[in-house]
Amino acid sequence: MGAKLHKWIDDRFGMNDLMEFVHHKTVPQHSRSYWYFLGGMTLFLFVIQVVTGILLLLYYRPSPDNAYESVQYIMAHVRFGWLIRSIHSWSANLMVFTAFAHMFSVFFLKAYRKPRELTWLTGMLLLFIVLGFGFSGYLLPWNTVSFFATKVGTDIAGQVPVVGRWIMVFLRGGEDVTGATLTRFFGFHVAVLPGLATALLLAHILLVQKFGMSVPPRVEEAWRKNPSDRREMQFFPNFLLRELMAWYLALAILGALAAFRPWDLGVKADPFAPAPAGIRPEWYFMFMFQTLKLIPGKIGPINGELVGILGFGLAGLFWMLLPFFDHGREGRGRRWVTGVGVFALGYIVGMTLYGYIAK
Ligand code: HEM
Repeated sequence: MGAKLHKWIDDRFGMNDLMEFVHHKTVPQHSRSYWYFLGGMTLFLFVIQVVTGILLLLYYRPSPDNAYESVQYIMAHVRFGWLIRSIHSWSANLMVFTAFAHMFSVFFLKAYRKPRELTWLTGMLLLFIVLGFGFSGYLLPWNTVSFFATKVGTDIAGQVPVVGRWIMVFLRGGEDVTGATLTRFFGFHVAVLPGLATALLLAHILLVQKFGMSVPPRVEEAWRKNPSDRREMQFFPNFLLRELMAWYLALAILGALAAFRPWDLGVKADPFAPAPAGIRPEWYFMFMFQTLKLIPGKIGPINGELVGILGFGLAGLFWMLLPFFDHGREGRGRRWVTGVGVFALGYIVGMTLYGYIAK
């Protein structure tokens, strides 16, 4: 029966070619191989988001009159609703963390260099989309913190020169954060961003398949000197089984977090109430938020916030185009790029911590 089914599929779809491909795929094995898990971990968390998100969609209602109450209903009355919502929220945060960690790991392993420029570029676009998921999802429960954080976030977007106002009105669906904003954010969160993410993910994974896993320059050099040290692991089943164990562990952590720290719902938003003190964005926007807070109102004749926004825009653009600046030259060229990466990581971590300590 098994052999017959195998032949049936093989006759039509060339199963043997697929098995051949799967058996030939290998992963370089060296002291830094564990960093290769982070991309797969981000992918796993993305799948968790899709599954739990679809389940939430069965009960969530995107309007100012119903959104908060529908989430309350999910938490209190839907069987395992509290678990699904908490996993969705915790997994979203974990996914942002693993996407950043994956980005910095491929940066320090120099995996963005030729021929992987487009793998890096599609990855950067995915990171922006992940942040977009976070920003749009934050508003959906329509609670006080999310309402005012969205007001502040879209206000900041409005400061961008020339197109800022247009971006703000486009995001809000009008001049203010209202029900129109909620409808829009819901559309971004459950249709636009998932569509874009799926297309980009496909491209990203296909590019990873095309070029295979990179080997860090230092390891490559050592292997060139001593070819007998070269080690590779079969992707299937050896690497995949290890990856599955990591996913299993992630699932256990998510389950524990959701059970012991169910995601808070807060107080329903009142658009007419004054903004409460100490409104903060999600932790992954904190480094930018804190920077903008520290910049003086005026730098010479120029608006200080504008300088900050332009600075982040240019830094993001530079980071995105990094593979085109660092082609893989040895020595000096390599060291300044590493320095930039160390600075960027230090800045993000430092400013985030400062944001929480300073309040
Ligand atoms: C939703 C977000 C993302 C997902 C699901 C994802 C998924 C993956 C997977 C499964 C791999 C192969 C395993 C590995 O190297 O870890 C990979 C490799 C890679 N990713 Fe991502 N990724 C994401 C975001 C990013 C970001 C933000 C960047 C950097 C800007 C990036 C750049 C790369 C590069 C350059 C590789 C090739 C690594 C190598 O050959 O050694 N990815 N990604």
